[in-house]
Amino acid sequence: MRNGALGMTIILRMDPLKPDKAKIRIAAKIIQDGGIVAFPTETVYGLGADALNPEAVEKIFIAKNRPPDNPLIVHISRKSQLFELAKEVPDWIIEVLDQVWPGPVTFVLRKRNIVPDIVTAGLPTVAIRMPAHPVALALIDEARKPLAAPSANISGKPSPTRGEHVIKDLSGRVDAIIDAGETFFGVESTVIDATEDPPVILRPGPIGLEELEKIIKKKIRIHPVALGNKMRETPKAPGMKYRHYAPEAKLILVEGDYDQVLEQIMKLYQTLKNEKKRVALLLSEESIERLGLNQDTIVLGSRENLYTVAKNLFKSLRSLDEKGYEIGLCEGFELRGIGLAIMNRLRKAATKIIHV
Ligand code: TXA
Ligand code: MG
Repeated sequence: MRNGALGMTIILRMDPLKPDKAKIRIAAKIIQDGGIVAFPTETVYGLGADALNPEAVEKIFIAKNRPPDNPLIVHISRKSQLFELAKEVPDWIIEVLDQVWPGPVTFVLRKRNIVPDIVTAGLPTVAIRMPAHPVALALIDEARKPLAAPSANISGKPSPTRGEHVIKDLSGRVDAIIDAGETFFGVESTVIDATEDPPVILRPGPIGLEELEKIIKKKIRIHPVALGNKMRETPKAPGMKYRHYAPEAKLILVEGDYDQVLEQIMKLYQTLKNEKKRVALLLSEESIERLGLNQDTIVLGSRENLYTVAKNLFKSLRSLDEKGYEIGLCEGFELRGIGLAIMNRLRKAATKIIHV
């Protein structure tokens, strides 16, 4: 498909745990012919092209309306591919590879010449990961190509965690969409700059900082903008400078002392309701237990198990628009484990952050 013109999109449905061989072959052939295919990973859906074919990769930027200075992650299905794409891979990565891959951890490394500039937005580094999803691994294997793939949403929108999200965003703009239901984690991979020592987290993900430090037996630095706070430093991952994950609706994030957060949210809710605004409450199960449930409540998951909140996060942001809300009021979460990834996404999606 050229220039993002509307065209035919093949939808290939399959069981996430039992990839359909015949349909995978169809998708792999499209990739080999220079087309673009959306596919599930364990984090969010990706929009993939042959990473070594610059014309194919260009189609991704067009379909998503992605700024050309935001580089893509290259997805592999065998660990040996890492060394074909990257050079100067530090020993500490080689030592932990079996523990983190396949999995939601992306390493930024010095790139080899084989990786086209369009993939890395001209940077001398390339981001690489091996996804832990049977369908993604089957597709990369069958295509016999590394796949350059950003999240399969229109740029700036919440990332897709279900096939139906991708179909809504990209139908008619891509050659095929593999729909294998819901992804496992719901937030994107942890991005680690491994060209620095100590390594630096550029984007927090499903595997928390504490857990990663234990695995790699190394101190990790966290880049200030990885917290999602307003930027002061020059961003290292170019994607960090754009507003992201944002629904059409305004999102107000209230964070700080839990009791005060709930108090502030209810106060705002009443004020906005009085102004006849269509306002939704994005709350945890624990908060709903305290405040009661009403028709405007969207359940995020449990504060006791933040994996549930991560899994529902983007779906909940999308549902604000689907249900016609103008404003969403959302509580903040602990900055620990996967909570850091949740807060990074919420802060970036928010039009306003209130600290209490
Ligand atoms: O879980 C994920 O990582 C998903 C699935 C599809 O694999 N992918 C994903 O891709 O979230 P994307 O393009 O939405 O986000 C990639 C992030 C961006 O913030 C980008 O700037 C950063 O990785 N990145 C990519 N290459 C980089 C590089 N060479 N140096 C620094 N940051 C890089
Ligand atoms: Mg993205």
